[in-house]
Amino acid sequence: MSDQREIPHVLVLHGPNLNLLGLREPAVYGTQTLADVDTALEALAEELGIEVACRQSNQEGELIDWVHEALERFDGVLMNPGGYTHTSVALRDAIASIAKPCVEVHLSNVHKREAFRHTSLTAGVCVGVVMGFGVDSYLLGLRALVSHLHKLAPVASGASTAT
Ligand code: DQA
Repeated sequence: MSDQREIPHVLVLHGPNLNLLGLREPAVYGTQTLADVDTALEALAEELGIEVACRQSNQEGELIDWVHEALERFDGVLMNPGGYTHTSVALRDAIASIAKPCVEVHLSNVHKREAFRHTSLTAGVCVGVVMGFGVDSYLLGLRALVSHLHKLAPVASGASTAT
């Protein structure tokens, strides 16, 4: 990783309808809220010695703008694109454009569900995908992304300007 950065900064993006976690189809997505997910990610970030910034949007364009922001301000992206996983060429192009490592996560195992969820347009431009473990998918995905970042830059690194 680059220049005088000391701590990896990871941008966590939650896509559409994930603001309703806890209420939304609890049999599929569990009863924990998005705030619970972010709290767990922040605790893991502290344990791993990194910084995370967690954001959620129901707007495709806003998610794309945030991916672009990672170009300057973050070292990697952890993303649950929600339904855009299966539909968004534009989000895929955004991830490919920034050349920063992205890990895709899903609460559910999409391959056990409807056929239209079996295709991910975004996975092909991500380092890897973790799915099917509920909130643990996010935590496993963050560990994998941080491990990947450390392999890219064995000496600690990070984007000092991120908030
Ligand atoms: C999801 C799976 C998607 O198919 C769905 O549209 C979501 C949530 C998951 O986390 O399991 O919104 O990304």
